[in-house]
Amino acid sequence: MNSRGREIVLGVTGGISAYKSCDLLRRLQDHGFLVTVIPTRASLNFVGVATWEALSGREIATDLWNNVHQVPHVSIAKKADAIIIAPATADILAKMAHGIADDLLTNTLLASTAPVIVVPAMHTEMWLNPATVSNIETLRNRGVVVIEPGTGKLTSGDVGVGRYPESADIISGLLETLSLTSDLLGKRVLISAGGTREAIDPVRYIGNHSSGKQGYALAHAAALRGAKVTLVSANSQEPNIEGIEIIRVVSASQMQEALEANFDLADIVIMAAAVADVRPAEISSGKISKSELKSIELIQNPDILKVLSSRKRDQVIIGFAAQTQAADNGGLAQAAKKLQEKALDAIYFNDVSEGAIFGADETSGVIVTADGAEEAVPRVSKVTLANKILDLALNKLG
Ligand code: CTP
Repeated sequence: MNSRGREIVLGVTGGISAYKSCDLLRRLQDHGFLVTVIPTRASLNFVGVATWEALSGREIATDLWNNVHQVPHVSIAKKADAIIIAPATADILAKMAHGIADDLLTNTLLASTAPVIVVPAMHTEMWLNPATVSNIETLRNRGVVVIEPGTGKLTSGDVGVGRYPESADIISGLLETLSLTSDLLGKRVLISAGGTREAIDPVRYIGNHSSGKQGYALAHAAALRGAKVTLVSANSQEPNIEGIEIIRVVSASQMQEALEANFDLADIVIMAAAVADVRPAEISSGKISKSELKSIELIQNPDILKVLSSRKRDQVIIGFAAQTQAADNGGLAQAAKKLQEKALDAIYFNDVSEGAIFGADETSGVIVTADGAEEAVPRVSKVTLANKILDLALNKLG
């Protein structure tokens, strides 16, 4: 089952952490969810209608008394696959517990039969207040999913429980609630990320601009979908991802060793790393003085993907092709050639001219598959591309 095209209502209530729901909205869209935001009147003090309209690409209704002929609370409630209230204030929890319906959001909640997830975020004393504790218990008993607030520094400067959780944790809760986690369950996914560095001397190296963001997005997306993920990461600054085995490497030969060691058990192998094609023939043990640094003799690194493909059992293997030509100017042809030479199931072509895409959160390109089919990917987040690639790999696995 897939999250793409599913309708989510994001109810935003009047807590300072309402701004964090802007990121949550983006991440929901990355997963392919279609999101209707219903902000309460109080929440508009923190994030305004214009922001929600721009981010969601949808008209924002806050009032029950607009477009009455469309009966908005009923029509929104009917099409929702899930409702997330984030942040959920003590006030909305109290209203929900008592079935109060005095605005668009609370009416929508009452009119909906979809699963409801609340993300409480408030000051510690409000969270621990017996009234809130009892309201939470009532909601839990009715099947509402409560994503527990985190502990740490609060807006007031105090430290305690009540923090708005990470978007990824809220989305995990949503996917679990919708039973969307299962499509890669039991599968092992091996991913490479970042850019290798080939030492010249203890100070210098040959490297590239790869940030690792695409490989990490793939790893994260695969893990969210239930896969067991091993990520071989070369020199990336991206933070660790809980539940994912990360093997850190520096050079191409270390990357090759780590990938070869994990290849046989993998079902899907995705080579998002930028591997240095060459390395210095010799690594100087001491820093080479600039007067001696006139030229460096280089030798070829093995093509890791080719080596892996030659050992292919029934793995689905996907590569990346970073080109400096546009798709219609030889770029796509080059990518298709790499797909053939490396015996891949698919390759993602992207045009990296003038530093585009490296280090960015978004990407655009073309997915080419072994049967010659091409799918253009317009500018999307790297998470969205990750899910597209995983959909394709899963399809190939059959
Ligand atoms: N790759 C690899 N080992 C290498 C070089 C590349 O496994 N020594 C992988 C990359 O991770 C990527 C794919 O092969 O998935 C294509 O890499 P790219 O750098 O675009 O192409 P190259 O084969 O290196 O060809 P060229 O440098 O001539 O464009």
